[in-house]
Amino acid sequence: MRHLLFLHLLGASVWVGGHLVLLFSVLPGALRRRDVQPVRQFEQLYERVGIPALLVQIVSGLWLASLWLPHGQWFDSSPMAHLVQAKLVLLGFTALLGVHARLALIPKLDAQRLPQLGLHIVLITLTAVAFVWVGSGFRFGGLF
Ligand code: HEM
Repeated sequence: MRHLLFLHLLGASVWVGGHLVLLFSVLPGALRRRDVQPVRQFEQLYERVGIPALLVQIVSGLWLASLWLPHGQWFDSSPMAHLVQAKLVLLGFTALLGVHARLALIPKLDAQRLPQLGLHIVLITLTAVAFVWVGSGFRFGGLF
């Protein structure tokens, strides 16, 4: 349990930290210079740790969730079940944003599409931060 939580927190640091750096350090410069290159470069470097971190989050998260609540109760309407459901909704949203970025945005990325990419980065970062907020709710018995 301790090791699982450790991995979950390590993965969270990488996932959330990386997206905050992308949003607050890389994106503003790219928008100012109307140049997609810094974002592309960052994504290439980040991918190598970011994707494994997300996979660690999914596996350790599902595992931790099953320790808090048996699978059969994940879709009940208890406060704990709501936390698990919120995590799953955020995961779905992360997957949609990822697929959309990969298939629709990145292949045709040019200076004109930078604002669209920016919105995308804002949404994925907000989702990452929301994961942390929901995660911290487990010890406190609810979302708020
Ligand atoms: C990038 C995605 C994710 C991030 C950044 C993230 C982040 C966090 C953080 C910071 C905590 C607080 C840990 C603590 O209690 O000290 C947490 C807890 C938790 N997360 Fe996630 N999480 C992610 C994905 C998931 C997924 C996909 C699930 C699956 C349902 C999940 C399930 C849980 C559970 C069950 C806990 C409670 C752990 C505990 O305190 O014992 N997480 N998460």
